Amino acid sequence: MLTIARNAARGLRNRIRDARTVRQVEAIRARGDGTSTPFPNLVTLEPTRRCNLHCVMCYTSEVERYTRMDELSVEEIDRVFSELPVKRVNLVGGEVFIRKDIFQIMDNLVRRGIVIENVTTNGTLLDEEKAARLAEYIKRKQLSGLTFSIDGEEEMHNAIRKSPKAFELTMRGIAQVLEALKARGVEPRKHVKITSVVTPDNVAVFSKVVGVAARAGVPTVQYNHLICATEAEIQATEMMLGLPRAEVDTWIVPDLEGKIRSEDVLKEMAVAEAEGAKHGIRVHFRPAKDPAGVKAHYANQGPFGGTCWSPFDNCRITFSGKVNYCLLLRSEMGDVRTQSVAEIWNGEKFRRLRKELLAAPYPICRRCCKLSPG
Ligand SMILES: C[S@@+](CC[C@H](N)C(=O)[O-])C[C@H]1O[C@@H](n2cnc3c(N)ncnc32)[C@H](O)[C@@H]1O
Ligand code: SF4
Ligand code: SF4
Repeated sequence: MLTIARNAARGLRNRIRDARTVRQVEAIRARGDGTSTPFPNLVTLEPTRRCNLHCVMCYTSEVERYTRMDELSVEEIDRVFSELPVKRVNLVGGEVFIRKDIFQIMDNLVRRGIVIENVTTNGTLLDEEKAARLAEYIKRKQLSGLTFSIDGEEEMHNAIRKSPKAFELTMRGIAQVLEALKARGVEPRKHVKITSVVTPDNVAVFSKVVGVAARAGVPTVQYNHLICATEAEIQATEMMLGLPRAEVDTWIVPDLEGKIRSEDVLKEMAVAEAEGAKHGIRVHFRPAKDPAGVKAHYANQGPFGGTCWSPFDNCRITFSGKVNYCLLLRSEMGDVRTQSVAEIWNGEKFRRLRKELLAAPYPICRRCCKLSPG
């Protein structure tokens, strides 16, 4: 009963937040000059783009080209947030736990009263001490969510993650976090989830992740449809926005239809939902997709629609201090090493691209998780 009430309250909070974002976007649209709110509502911080794995589908595909040398220091990150009245931060990578000073970064954020909404991790670098620190943040409501990536049963997961030990280590990390939460009397339901990507490798079996979650004791599975783009979509976006090649960063597929059939995806989605119902596990798909949406997502070409609120709400600060326009358009909007976020956020570059996005999504947006249906 209590859980139902909590879920309802959370749903209401999310709807209020969505409604506020829609109102903001409408106001921005009405102004017509691409300016947003004075500060972003949410900052996505990539403390690093380095990673200990090299997964086949990763859109941060060339993780090996990033080095520690370019990364913002703990002090530089803290200075950025000292000037920025933001209350919500997401941490993504790369693999954030590859940074030895990640807990200093997190400590500084929470000391400023910032809530870390979510940390997405492959979980392989956790140990009991780190799990305890994460559980402590969660207990103190300084960290809301921990998301572990699992793409299949052990053999499949390890093949996708290109590591014979990945599954074992991730499951160990999950168990350590759940144990640490239990020791603190914290119910994991609201805080821990597994995320999984639909890929050409696991398309016929991705529903099995629900069974993995059941075994691990994780109550939610969030599936992401594959983020990728065809060469033609990348070129069309570059031409439309006048961007150089390196600024569109995603996983490139020459022939998606030849690799993933939407019928197979829909079949597995139904099995995953049934498995979820059987095990009492919540199963979500992002972006939520009806059969027509799934067909459009996995087609090589054809019409698509939707809205992206991300660059109106969310500022992405990369490991080296560059502020990017969004998840896939790595165009540099500014640099926090030399400018304030406020200056960058409503600067000329951001405004120009926002104006373009208000007209219609870019071709590159087609399979991005940030594109909401409708
Ligand atoms: C880039 S990773 C960074 C966090 C961490 N290294 C991890 O694997 O969880 C963030 C999430 O994106 C997912 N991901 C990677 N490539 C993707 C793609 N092409 N489409 C959709 N999601 C993808 C990963 O599985 C992971 O859940
Ligand atoms: S998905 Fe995560 S673990 Fe895999 S290569 Fe990308 S950043 Fe690394
Ligand atoms: S939907 Fe488009 S604009 Fe929005 S984050 Fe994705 S690529 Fe960027």
